Amino acid sequence: MTQTNLARSAPQDETTWWRHAVIYQVYPRSFADNDGDGIGDLPGIASRLPYLAKLGVDAIWLSPFYRSPQHDGGYDVSDYRDVDPLFGTLADFDRMLAEAHRLGLRIIVDLVPNHTSTEHAWFREAVATLPGSAARQRYIFRDGKGKDGELPPNNWQSIFGGNAWSRAPGDSQWYLHLFDRSQPDLNWDHPEVRSDFEDVLRFWLDRGVDGFRVDVAHGLIKAEGLPDWAGQTSMVEGEEGAHSNNGPMWDQEGVHDVYRRWRQVLDEYDNDRMMVAEAWVHPPQRLARYVRADEMQQAFNFDYLLTHWDAQAFRDVVTRSLAVSAEVGAPTTWVMSNHDTVRHTSRYGLSVPGARPKGIDAAGEQPNEALGLRRARAAALLTLALPGSAYIYQGEELGLPEHTTLAAEHRQDPAFFRTSGEEIGRDGCRVPLPWQSAAPAFGFGPGTATWLPQPVSFARYAVDRQEGDAGSTLELYRAALRLRRQRDLGNGELVWRDAEPGVVAFANGGVHVVVNTNDHPVALPGGEVLVSSVPLDSGHMLPANSAVWLG
Ligand code: GLC
Repeated sequence: MTQTNLARSAPQDETTWWRHAVIYQVYPRSFADNDGDGIGDLPGIASRLPYLAKLGVDAIWLSPFYRSPQHDGGYDVSDYRDVDPLFGTLADFDRMLAEAHRLGLRIIVDLVPNHTSTEHAWFREAVATLPGSAARQRYIFRDGKGKDGELPPNNWQSIFGGNAWSRAPGDSQWYLHLFDRSQPDLNWDHPEVRSDFEDVLRFWLDRGVDGFRVDVAHGLIKAEGLPDWAGQTSMVEGEEGAHSNNGPMWDQEGVHDVYRRWRQVLDEYDNDRMMVAEAWVHPPQRLARYVRADEMQQAFNFDYLLTHWDAQAFRDVVTRSLAVSAEVGAPTTWVMSNHDTVRHTSRYGLSVPGARPKGIDAAGEQPNEALGLRRARAAALLTLALPGSAYIYQGEELGLPEHTTLAAEHRQDPAFFRTSGEEIGRDGCRVPLPWQSAAPAFGFGPGTATWLPQPVSFARYAVDRQEGDAGSTLELYRAALRLRRQRDLGNGELVWRDAEPGVVAFANGGVHVVVNTNDHPVALPGGEVLVSSVPLDSGHMLPANSAVWLG
Protein backbone atom coordinates (compact mmCIF):
# COMPACT_ATOMS: atom_id res chain seq x y z
CA MET A 1 0.00 0.00 0.00
CA THR A 2 1.30 3.46 -0.76
CA GLN A 3 0.40 6.12 1.69
CA THR A 4 -1.14 9.40 0.68
CA ASN A 5 0.48 11.20 3.53
CA LEU A 6 -0.72 14.64 2.54
CA ALA A 7 -0.71 16.12 6.02
CA ARG A 8 2.90 15.26 6.58
CA SER A 9 5.38 18.05 7.15
CA ALA A 10 7.56 16.78 9.96
CA PRO A 11 10.88 18.33 10.85
CA GLN A 12 13.18 17.49 7.99
CA ASP A 13 16.44 17.70 9.87
CA GLU A 14 18.97 14.92 10.20
CA THR A 15 18.21 11.25 9.61
CA THR A 16 17.91 8.75 12.43
CA TRP A 17 16.81 11.55 14.69
CA TRP A 18 15.77 9.03 17.34
CA ARG A 19 19.36 7.96 17.98
CA HIS A 20 19.96 11.07 20.04
CA ALA A 21 16.50 12.52 20.57
CA VAL A 22 15.18 13.88 23.84
CA ILE A 23 11.60 12.65 24.03
CA TYR A 24 9.08 14.18 26.43
CA GLN A 25 6.26 12.00 27.70
CA VAL A 26 2.87 13.65 27.88
CA TYR A 27 0.22 11.88 29.93
CA PRO A 28 -2.75 13.58 28.27
CA ARG A 29 -5.15 13.36 31.23
CA SER A 30 -2.78 15.41 33.34
CA PHE A 31 -0.90 17.77 31.06
CA ALA A 32 -3.23 20.67 30.25
CA ASP A 33 -7.01 20.95 30.25
CA ASN A 34 -8.62 23.17 27.67
CA ASP A 35 -12.35 22.55 28.19
CA GLY A 36 -12.47 22.74 31.97
CA ASP A 37 -13.71 19.22 32.76
CA GLY A 38 -10.66 18.55 34.93
CA ILE A 39 -9.13 16.11 32.46
CA GLY A 40 -6.37 17.21 30.11
CA ASP A 41 -7.07 17.12 26.38
CA LEU A 42 -5.53 17.49 22.92
CA PRO A 43 -6.35 21.21 22.54
CA GLY A 44 -4.68 21.67 25.95
CA ILE A 45 -1.57 19.92 24.66
CA ALA A 46 -1.64 22.01 21.48
CA SER A 47 -1.77 25.20 23.55
CA ARG A 48 1.38 24.20 25.47
CA LEU A 49 3.50 23.08 22.51
CA PRO A 50 5.46 26.35 22.51
CA TYR A 51 6.46 25.55 26.10
CA LEU A 52 7.85 22.18 24.99
CA ALA A 53 9.63 23.71 22.00
CA LYS A 54 11.22 26.26 24.33
CA LEU A 55 12.21 23.51 26.76
CA GLY A 56 14.32 22.12 23.94
CA VAL A 57 13.03 18.58 23.46
CA ASP A 58 12.95 16.91 20.06
CA ALA A 59 9.81 14.84 20.29
CA ILE A 60 6.74 14.10 22.36
CA TRP A 61 5.35 10.70 23.27
CA LEU A 62 1.62 10.83 23.99
CA SER A 63 0.13 8.21 26.28
CA PRO A 64 -3.22 6.91 24.93
CA PHE A 65 -5.98 9.34 23.94
CA TYR A 66 -8.04 6.78 22.00
CA ARG A 67 -11.64 5.82 22.63
CA SER A 68 -11.71 4.03 25.94
CA PRO A 69 -13.89 3.50 29.00
CA GLN A 70 -10.81 4.66 30.96
CA HIS A 71 -10.56 1.76 33.36
CA ASP A 72 -6.76 1.96 33.10
CA GLY A 73 -6.16 5.57 32.14
CA GLY A 74 -6.85 4.83 28.47
CA TYR A 75 -4.63 1.73 28.24
CA ASP A 76 -7.95 -0.06 27.70
CA VAL A 77 -8.73 0.89 24.12
CA SER A 78 -12.18 0.36 22.60
CA ASP A 79 -11.39 1.99 19.23
CA TYR A 80 -7.81 2.36 18.03
CA ARG A 81 -8.79 4.67 15.20
CA ASP A 82 -10.55 7.40 17.09
CA VAL A 83 -9.97 9.98 19.81
CA ASP A 84 -11.95 9.67 23.02
CA PRO A 85 -14.36 12.61 23.38
CA LEU A 86 -12.68 13.30 26.73
CA PHE A 87 -9.57 14.33 24.84
CA GLY A 88 -11.13 15.90 21.75
CA THR A 89 -11.56 14.76 18.16
CA LEU A 90 -9.46 13.45 15.31
CA ALA A 91 -9.50 16.98 13.92
CA ASP A 92 -8.01 18.20 17.22
CA PHE A 93 -5.32 15.56 16.86
CA ASP A 94 -4.50 16.65 13.32
CA ARG A 95 -4.30 20.29 14.39
CA MET A 96 -2.07 19.42 17.32
CA LEU A 97 0.20 17.31 15.12
CA ALA A 98 0.50 20.00 12.46
CA GLU A 99 1.36 22.59 15.10
CA ALA A 100 3.96 20.30 16.67
CA HIS A 101 5.60 19.72 13.30
CA ARG A 102 5.55 23.44 12.58
CA LEU A 103 7.47 23.95 15.82
CA GLY A 104 9.96 21.23 14.92
CA LEU A 105 8.60 18.69 17.40
CA ARG A 106 7.94 15.10 16.41
CA ILE A 107 5.01 13.12 17.81
CA ILE A 108 5.04 9.49 18.92
CA VAL A 109 1.75 7.84 19.86
CA ASP A 110 1.11 4.92 22.18
CA LEU A 111 0.06 1.61 20.70
CA VAL A 112 -1.62 -0.92 22.99
CA PRO A 113 -1.53 -4.28 21.19
CA ASN A 114 -1.48 -6.78 24.06
CA HIS A 115 -5.10 -6.25 25.01
CA THR A 116 -8.18 -4.29 24.04
CA SER A 117 -10.93 -2.95 26.24
CA THR A 118 -13.90 -5.22 26.96
CA GLU A 119 -15.83 -2.45 25.18
CA HIS A 120 -13.98 -3.09 21.91
CA ALA A 121 -16.31 -4.30 19.14
CA TRP A 122 -14.33 -7.55 18.88
CA PHE A 123 -14.77 -8.42 22.52
CA ARG A 124 -18.45 -7.52 22.53
CA GLU A 125 -18.88 -9.80 19.55
CA ALA A 126 -16.88 -12.54 21.26
CA VAL A 127 -19.00 -12.63 24.41
CA ALA A 128 -22.20 -12.44 22.36
CA THR A 129 -21.28 -15.71 20.63
CA LEU A 130 -20.93 -19.25 21.90
CA PRO A 131 -17.70 -20.98 22.90
CA GLY A 132 -15.84 -22.10 19.81
CA SER A 133 -17.08 -19.19 17.70
CA ALA A 134 -14.72 -17.48 15.27
CA ALA A 135 -15.16 -14.21 17.17
CA ARG A 136 -13.72 -15.81 20.33
CA GLN A 137 -10.54 -16.83 18.51
CA ARG A 138 -9.30 -13.23 18.53
CA TYR A 139 -8.93 -13.42 22.30
CA ILE A 140 -7.70 -16.10 24.69
CA PHE A 141 -10.84 -17.91 25.81
CA ARG A 142 -10.51 -21.28 27.54
CA ASP A 143 -12.73 -23.71 29.38
CA GLY A 144 -12.14 -23.74 33.11
CA LYS A 145 -10.84 -26.56 35.23
CA GLY A 146 -12.81 -28.37 37.92
CA LYS A 147 -15.98 -30.39 37.65
CA ASP A 148 -18.02 -27.63 36.02
CA GLY A 149 -15.20 -25.50 34.70
CA GLU A 150 -15.52 -23.29 37.76
CA LEU A 151 -11.76 -22.97 38.21
CA PRO A 152 -9.53 -20.76 36.04
CA PRO A 153 -7.68 -22.55 33.22
CA ASN A 154 -4.24 -21.98 34.80
CA ASN A 155 -2.63 -20.30 37.79
CA TRP A 156 -1.56 -17.03 36.17
CA GLN A 157 -1.99 -13.87 38.21
CA SER A 158 -2.82 -10.43 36.89
CA ILE A 159 -0.07 -7.81 37.07
CA PHE A 160 -2.55 -5.60 38.85
CA GLY A 161 -3.23 -8.35 41.41
CA GLY A 162 -5.73 -11.20 41.58
CA ASN A 163 -6.52 -13.81 38.99
CA ALA A 164 -5.54 -13.30 35.35
CA TRP A 165 -8.76 -14.98 34.21
CA SER A 166 -12.35 -13.78 34.36
CA ARG A 167 -15.72 -14.85 33.02
CA ALA A 168 -18.21 -12.49 31.46
CA PRO A 169 -21.55 -12.60 33.33
CA GLY A 170 -23.34 -15.82 32.44
CA ASP A 171 -20.46 -17.09 30.31
CA SER A 172 -19.11 -20.60 30.79
CA GLN A 173 -15.64 -19.78 29.46
CA TRP A 174 -12.79 -17.79 30.95
CA TYR A 175 -10.79 -15.10 29.16
CA LEU A 176 -7.21 -14.15 29.92
CA HIS A 177 -6.30 -10.65 31.08
CA LEU A 178 -2.74 -10.04 32.22
CA PHE A 179 -3.96 -6.65 33.47
CA ASP A 180 -7.42 -5.55 34.59
CA ARG A 181 -10.49 -7.67 33.83
CA SER A 182 -11.56 -4.84 31.50
CA GLN A 183 -8.41 -5.52 29.39
CA PRO A 184 -8.76 -8.92 27.65
CA ASP A 185 -5.55 -10.18 26.03
CA LEU A 186 -5.62 -10.57 22.27
CA ASN A 187 -4.64 -13.79 20.52
CA TRP A 188 -1.63 -12.77 18.44
CA ASP A 189 -1.62 -16.08 16.60
CA HIS A 190 -4.76 -14.91 14.84
CA PRO A 191 -4.08 -13.48 11.35
CA GLU A 192 -6.88 -10.95 11.66
CA VAL A 193 -5.40 -9.51 14.84
CA ARG A 194 -2.10 -9.10 13.03
CA SER A 195 -3.55 -7.52 9.93
CA ASP A 196 -5.79 -5.19 11.86
CA PHE A 197 -2.90 -3.79 13.87
CA GLU A 198 -0.91 -3.23 10.70
CA ASP A 199 -3.87 -1.25 9.53
CA VAL A 200 -3.90 0.73 12.79
CA LEU A 201 -0.22 1.53 12.29
CA ARG A 202 -0.97 2.81 8.80
CA PHE A 203 -3.93 4.81 10.06
CA TRP A 204 -1.67 6.88 12.31
CA LEU A 205 1.34 6.86 9.98
CA ASP A 206 -0.86 8.24 7.22
CA ARG A 207 -1.95 11.01 9.58
CA GLY A 208 1.74 11.86 9.98
CA VAL A 209 2.86 10.51 13.35
CA ASP A 210 6.59 9.98 13.76
CA GLY A 211 6.41 6.72 15.64
CA PHE A 212 4.91 4.48 18.26
CA ARG A 213 5.58 3.57 21.85
CA VAL A 214 4.62 -0.10 22.01
CA ASP A 215 2.85 -1.00 25.25
CA VAL A 216 3.74 -4.30 26.94
CA ALA A 217 5.86 -5.24 23.93
CA HIS A 218 7.12 -8.37 25.67
CA GLY A 219 3.66 -9.80 26.33
CA LEU A 220 1.91 -10.38 23.01
CA ILE A 221 2.76 -14.05 22.56
CA LYS A 222 2.15 -16.61 25.28
CA ALA A 223 3.89 -19.98 25.55
CA GLU A 224 2.14 -22.85 23.81
CA GLY A 225 -0.41 -24.54 26.06
CA LEU A 226 -0.41 -21.69 28.62
CA PRO A 227 1.47 -23.73 31.23
CA ASP A 228 1.14 -23.05 34.94
CA TRP A 229 3.93 -20.97 36.37
CA ALA A 230 5.31 -20.82 39.88
CA GLY A 231 6.74 -17.32 39.54
CA GLN A 232 5.02 -14.08 40.34
CA THR A 233 3.87 -11.90 37.47
CA SER A 234 5.15 -8.36 37.60
CA MET A 235 5.77 -5.42 35.33
CA VAL A 236 9.20 -4.93 36.79
CA GLU A 237 12.08 -7.26 37.23
CA GLY A 238 12.05 -7.22 41.02
CA GLU A 239 15.03 -5.94 42.89
CA GLU A 240 14.58 -8.62 45.51
CA GLY A 241 14.38 -11.36 42.91
CA ALA A 242 10.92 -12.36 44.13
CA HIS A 243 9.39 -11.24 40.87
CA SER A 244 10.64 -12.37 37.58
CA ASN A 245 9.68 -11.73 34.03
CA ASN A 246 10.77 -15.04 32.56
CA GLY A 247 7.34 -16.63 32.86
CA PRO A 248 5.42 -18.18 29.95
CA MET A 249 3.55 -14.94 29.29
CA TRP A 250 6.66 -12.82 28.74
CA ASP A 251 9.37 -12.36 26.14
CA GLN A 252 8.45 -15.29 23.92
CA GLU A 253 10.37 -15.68 20.67
CA GLY A 254 7.26 -15.06 18.57
CA VAL A 255 6.95 -11.39 19.55
CA HIS A 256 9.90 -10.61 17.33
CA ASP A 257 8.08 -11.73 14.19
CA VAL A 258 5.43 -9.14 14.96
CA TYR A 259 7.97 -6.33 15.26
CA ARG A 260 9.87 -7.40 12.16
CA ARG A 261 6.64 -7.11 10.21
CA TRP A 262 5.81 -3.74 11.76
CA ARG A 263 9.27 -2.49 10.89
CA GLN A 264 8.58 -3.33 7.27
CA VAL A 265 5.41 -1.29 7.45
CA LEU A 266 7.25 1.70 8.96
CA ASP A 267 9.97 1.44 6.36
CA GLU A 268 7.39 1.97 3.61
CA TYR A 269 7.06 5.51 4.94
CA ASP A 270 9.38 8.48 4.68
CA ASN A 271 10.83 10.60 7.46
CA ASP A 272 12.39 7.91 9.57
CA ARG A 273 9.43 6.75 11.65
CA MET A 274 10.31 4.79 14.78
CA MET A 275 9.07 2.40 17.47
CA VAL A 276 10.13 2.17 21.10
CA ALA A 277 9.48 -0.98 23.14
CA GLU A 278 8.07 -1.02 26.61
CA ALA A 279 9.53 -4.39 27.55
CA TRP A 280 10.32 -5.13 31.18
CA VAL A 281 12.72 -7.97 30.38
CA HIS A 282 15.94 -9.12 31.86
CA PRO A 283 18.89 -9.38 31.42
CA PRO A 284 19.72 -6.45 29.10
CA GLN A 285 20.78 -8.88 26.37
CA ARG A 286 17.11 -9.91 26.12
CA LEU A 287 16.08 -6.28 25.76
CA ALA A 288 18.62 -5.75 22.99
CA ARG A 289 16.79 -8.36 20.92
CA TYR A 290 13.87 -5.91 20.54
CA VAL A 291 16.15 -3.37 18.87
CA ARG A 292 17.95 -5.56 16.37
CA ALA A 293 18.41 -3.93 12.98
CA ASP A 294 15.12 -5.22 11.54
CA GLU A 295 12.95 -4.66 14.62
CA MET A 296 12.30 -1.61 16.76
CA GLN A 297 14.58 1.41 16.91
CA GLN A 298 14.54 1.89 20.68
CA ALA A 299 13.58 0.17 23.92
CA PHE A 300 13.15 1.85 27.28
CA ASN A 301 16.10 1.25 29.54
CA PHE A 302 14.32 0.36 32.76
CA ASP A 303 17.52 -0.88 34.37
CA TYR A 304 18.57 2.75 34.43
CA LEU A 305 15.25 3.78 35.96
CA LEU A 306 15.67 1.15 38.68
CA THR A 307 19.22 2.17 39.58
CA HIS A 308 19.67 3.48 43.10
CA TRP A 309 21.48 6.70 43.99
CA ASP A 310 24.90 5.12 43.96
CA ALA A 311 27.90 6.07 41.83
CA GLN A 312 29.12 2.54 41.21
CA ALA A 313 25.61 1.40 40.29
CA PHE A 314 25.32 4.28 37.81
CA ARG A 315 28.69 3.48 36.26
CA ASP A 316 27.77 -0.17 35.94
CA VAL A 317 24.37 0.38 34.38
CA VAL A 318 25.70 2.95 31.91
CA THR A 319 28.62 0.75 30.88
CA ARG A 320 26.40 -2.30 30.47
CA SER A 321 23.65 -0.44 28.64
CA LEU A 322 26.04 1.12 26.12
CA ALA A 323 27.81 -2.19 25.49
CA VAL A 324 24.66 -4.24 25.05
CA SER A 325 22.94 -1.83 22.70
CA ALA A 326 26.14 -1.35 20.70
CA GLU A 327 26.17 -5.09 20.03
CA VAL A 328 23.01 -4.74 17.99
CA GLY A 329 23.82 -1.27 16.64
CA ALA A 330 20.96 0.40 18.51
CA PRO A 331 21.05 3.61 20.53
CA THR A 332 20.73 3.40 24.28
CA THR A 333 17.85 5.16 25.99
CA TRP A 334 17.87 6.77 29.42
CA VAL A 335 14.72 7.04 31.46
CA MET A 336 14.19 7.91 35.12
CA SER A 337 10.42 8.27 35.47
CA ASN A 338 7.16 7.57 33.68
CA HIS A 339 3.45 7.28 34.44
CA ASP A 340 3.93 3.83 36.02
CA THR A 341 6.55 4.59 38.67
CA VAL A 342 6.95 6.84 41.69
CA ARG A 343 8.60 10.02 40.44
CA HIS A 344 12.39 9.76 40.79
CA THR A 345 12.54 13.08 42.59
CA SER A 346 10.69 11.36 45.42
CA ARG A 347 12.42 7.99 45.10
CA TYR A 348 15.84 9.63 45.52
CA GLY A 349 14.58 11.16 48.77
CA LEU A 350 13.79 7.81 50.41
CA SER A 351 15.98 6.20 53.06
CA VAL A 352 17.00 3.71 50.36
CA PRO A 353 17.50 6.33 47.66
CA GLY A 354 16.13 5.12 44.35
CA ALA A 355 14.04 2.28 45.78
CA ARG A 356 10.86 1.75 43.87
CA PRO A 357 7.81 1.30 46.07
CA LYS A 358 4.57 0.58 44.23
CA GLY A 359 3.17 3.96 45.14
CA ILE A 360 3.40 5.98 48.35
CA ASP A 361 0.55 7.02 50.65
CA ALA A 362 0.38 8.98 53.88
CA ALA A 363 1.06 5.83 55.93
CA GLY A 364 4.26 5.07 54.02
CA GLU A 365 7.74 6.52 54.39
CA GLN A 366 7.60 10.13 53.30
CA PRO A 367 10.52 11.12 51.07
CA ASN A 368 12.86 13.92 52.04
CA GLU A 369 11.61 16.38 49.44
CA ALA A 370 14.57 18.75 49.40
CA LEU A 371 17.17 15.99 49.27
CA GLY A 372 15.25 14.09 46.60
CA LEU A 373 15.02 17.21 44.46
CA ARG A 374 18.68 17.99 44.94
CA ARG A 375 19.64 14.51 43.78
CA ALA A 376 17.12 14.57 40.93
CA ARG A 377 18.67 17.77 39.61
CA ALA A 378 22.11 16.16 39.71
CA ALA A 379 20.68 13.05 38.03
CA ALA A 380 19.29 15.23 35.24
CA LEU A 381 22.82 16.41 34.47
CA LEU A 382 23.99 12.80 34.43
CA THR A 383 21.17 11.61 32.17
CA LEU A 384 21.20 14.47 29.69
CA ALA A 385 24.97 14.18 29.19
CA LEU A 386 24.86 10.53 28.16
CA PRO A 387 25.07 9.53 24.50
CA GLY A 388 21.84 8.12 23.14
CA SER A 389 18.23 9.13 23.55
CA ALA A 390 16.77 10.51 26.79
CA TYR A 391 13.18 10.46 28.00
CA ILE A 392 11.64 13.12 30.24
CA TYR A 393 8.36 12.46 32.02
CA GLN A 394 6.07 15.49 32.18
CA GLY A 395 6.75 17.58 35.28
CA GLU A 396 10.23 16.12 35.71
CA GLU A 397 11.60 19.35 34.28
CA LEU A 398 9.86 21.15 37.16
CA GLY A 399 11.38 18.82 39.77
CA LEU A 400 7.82 17.77 40.57
CA PRO A 401 7.52 15.30 43.44
CA GLU A 402 5.12 12.38 43.72
CA HIS A 403 1.83 13.16 45.47
CA THR A 404 2.55 10.98 48.49
CA THR A 405 -0.54 11.73 50.61
CA LEU A 406 -3.35 11.22 48.12
CA ALA A 407 -6.38 9.86 49.99
CA ALA A 408 -7.75 6.44 49.07
CA GLU A 409 -11.09 7.92 47.97
CA HIS A 410 -9.33 9.70 45.08
CA ARG A 411 -7.42 6.71 43.81
CA GLN A 412 -8.22 5.39 40.34
CA ASP A 413 -5.44 2.95 39.49
CA PRO A 414 -6.91 -0.56 39.01
CA ALA A 415 -3.84 -1.98 40.77
CA PHE A 416 -4.97 -0.26 43.99
CA PHE A 417 -8.38 -1.90 43.85
CA ARG A 418 -7.28 -5.31 42.63
CA THR A 419 -4.80 -5.61 45.52
CA SER A 420 -7.27 -4.18 48.07
CA GLY A 421 -4.94 -1.27 48.59
CA GLU A 422 -1.86 -3.35 49.23
CA GLU A 423 -0.34 -1.70 46.18
CA ILE A 424 -0.85 2.04 46.51
CA GLY A 425 -0.66 2.38 42.77
CA ARG A 426 0.38 4.93 40.22
CA ASP A 427 -1.98 7.87 40.77
CA GLY A 428 0.63 9.82 42.73
CA CYS A 429 2.78 10.36 39.64
CA ARG A 430 -0.21 11.26 37.44
CA VAL A 431 -1.41 14.38 39.20
CA PRO A 432 -2.30 17.31 36.87
CA LEU A 433 0.61 19.66 36.21
CA PRO A 434 0.93 23.09 37.87
CA TRP A 435 1.33 25.88 35.32
CA GLN A 436 0.50 28.98 37.39
CA SER A 437 1.12 29.16 41.12
CA ALA A 438 -1.72 31.57 41.94
CA ALA A 439 -4.43 30.29 39.58
CA PRO A 440 -7.22 27.83 40.43
CA ALA A 441 -6.01 24.26 39.84
CA PHE A 442 -2.59 25.87 39.42
CA GLY A 443 -3.55 26.80 35.89
CA PHE A 444 -4.10 23.19 34.78
CA GLY A 445 -7.41 24.25 33.21
CA PRO A 446 -9.74 27.20 33.00
CA GLY A 447 -11.65 26.24 36.16
CA THR A 448 -11.00 24.54 39.46
CA ALA A 449 -11.55 20.95 38.32
CA THR A 450 -8.73 18.40 38.33
CA TRP A 451 -9.36 14.66 38.01
CA LEU A 452 -6.91 14.07 40.88
CA PRO A 453 -6.36 16.67 43.61
CA GLN A 454 -3.04 18.52 43.50
CA PRO A 455 -1.00 18.91 46.70
CA VAL A 456 -0.57 22.50 47.92
CA SER A 457 3.19 22.14 47.46
CA PHE A 458 2.63 22.20 43.68
CA ALA A 459 2.40 26.00 43.90
CA ARG A 460 6.15 26.06 44.46
CA TYR A 461 6.77 23.99 41.36
CA ALA A 462 4.49 25.87 38.98
CA VAL A 463 5.96 26.83 35.61
CA ASP A 464 5.39 30.55 36.17
CA ARG A 465 7.34 30.40 39.45
CA GLN A 466 10.32 28.83 37.74
CA GLU A 467 10.43 30.59 34.42
CA GLY A 468 13.26 33.12 34.34
CA ASP A 469 14.63 32.03 37.73
CA ALA A 470 18.16 30.89 36.94
CA GLY A 471 18.24 28.59 39.98
CA SER A 472 15.02 26.77 39.09
CA THR A 473 14.82 23.19 37.88
CA LEU A 474 13.03 24.31 34.71
CA GLU A 475 15.90 26.63 33.80
CA LEU A 476 18.39 23.88 34.67
CA TYR A 477 16.70 21.56 32.18
CA ARG A 478 16.53 24.29 29.55
CA ALA A 479 20.22 25.08 29.96
CA ALA A 480 21.25 21.43 29.89
CA LEU A 481 19.11 20.68 26.84
CA ARG A 482 20.52 23.69 25.01
CA LEU A 483 24.10 22.59 25.71
CA ARG A 484 23.30 18.99 24.88
CA ARG A 485 22.09 20.12 21.47
CA GLN A 486 24.94 22.58 20.85
CA ARG A 487 27.57 20.01 21.77
CA ASP A 488 25.72 17.14 20.12
CA LEU A 489 26.07 15.02 23.26
CA GLY A 490 23.41 12.57 22.12
CA ASN A 491 25.68 11.50 19.27
CA GLY A 492 28.79 11.62 21.40
CA GLU A 493 31.05 9.04 22.91
CA LEU A 494 31.47 8.44 26.62
CA VAL A 495 34.94 8.13 28.14
CA TRP A 496 35.12 7.35 31.84
CA ARG A 497 37.40 9.49 33.99
CA ASP A 498 39.02 8.42 37.24
CA ALA A 499 37.04 9.54 40.24
CA GLU A 500 37.02 9.11 43.97
CA PRO A 501 34.44 6.85 45.63
CA GLY A 502 30.87 8.03 45.26
CA VAL A 503 31.66 10.11 42.19
CA VAL A 504 30.69 9.49 38.57
CA ALA A 505 32.99 11.27 36.12
CA PHE A 506 33.15 11.04 32.36
CA ALA A 507 33.80 13.05 29.25
CA ASN A 508 31.47 13.29 26.30
CA GLY A 509 32.68 15.47 23.47
CA GLY A 510 34.26 18.49 25.07
CA VAL A 511 32.11 18.23 28.19
CA HIS A 512 33.46 16.84 31.43
CA VAL A 513 30.64 15.59 33.65
CA VAL A 514 31.09 15.10 37.40
CA VAL A 515 28.30 13.77 39.62
CA ASN A 516 28.85 13.62 43.37
CA THR A 517 26.48 11.11 44.99
CA ASN A 518 28.20 11.48 48.37
CA ASP A 519 26.75 13.36 51.30
CA HIS A 520 29.95 15.38 51.50
CA PRO A 521 31.74 17.71 49.06
CA VAL A 522 34.49 16.45 46.77
CA ALA A 523 37.32 18.22 45.00
CA LEU A 524 36.38 19.57 41.59
CA PRO A 525 38.70 19.27 38.61
CA GLY A 526 39.54 22.44 36.72
CA GLY A 527 37.52 23.76 33.81
CA GLU A 528 34.88 26.30 32.94
CA VAL A 529 31.53 25.62 34.60
CA LEU A 530 28.97 25.18 31.82
CA VAL A 531 26.04 24.25 34.05
CA SER A 532 25.70 22.96 37.60
CA SER A 533 22.85 21.53 39.64
CA VAL A 534 23.67 23.75 42.63
CA PRO A 535 25.46 27.12 42.84
CA LEU A 536 29.22 26.54 42.97
CA ASP A 537 30.67 29.04 45.40
CA SER A 538 34.28 28.16 45.88
CA GLY A 539 34.94 26.82 42.41
CA HIS A 540 37.14 24.12 43.92
CA MET A 541 34.60 21.82 45.52
CA LEU A 542 31.54 20.03 44.23
CA PRO A 543 28.96 19.97 47.05
CA ALA A 544 27.17 16.86 48.27
CA ASN A 545 24.53 15.36 45.94
CA SER A 546 25.22 17.64 43.02
CA ALA A 547 26.59 17.59 39.50
CA VAL A 548 28.40 19.85 37.08
CA TRP A 549 29.30 20.03 33.40
CA LEU A 550 32.74 21.52 32.83
CA GLY A 551 34.02 22.80 29.50
C1 GLC B 1 1.86 -0.46 30.33
C2 GLC B 1 1.46 0.95 30.64
C3 GLC B 1 0.63 0.94 31.88
C4 GLC B 1 -0.59 0.09 31.65
C5 GLC B 1 -0.21 -1.31 31.19
C6 GLC B 1 -1.38 -2.03 30.62
O1 GLC B 1 2.70 -0.95 31.29
O2 GLC B 1 2.58 1.77 30.74
O3 GLC B 1 0.27 2.23 32.27
O4 GLC B 1 -1.34 0.00 32.83
O5 GLC B 1 0.75 -1.27 30.18
O6 GLC B 1 -1.71 -1.51 29.37
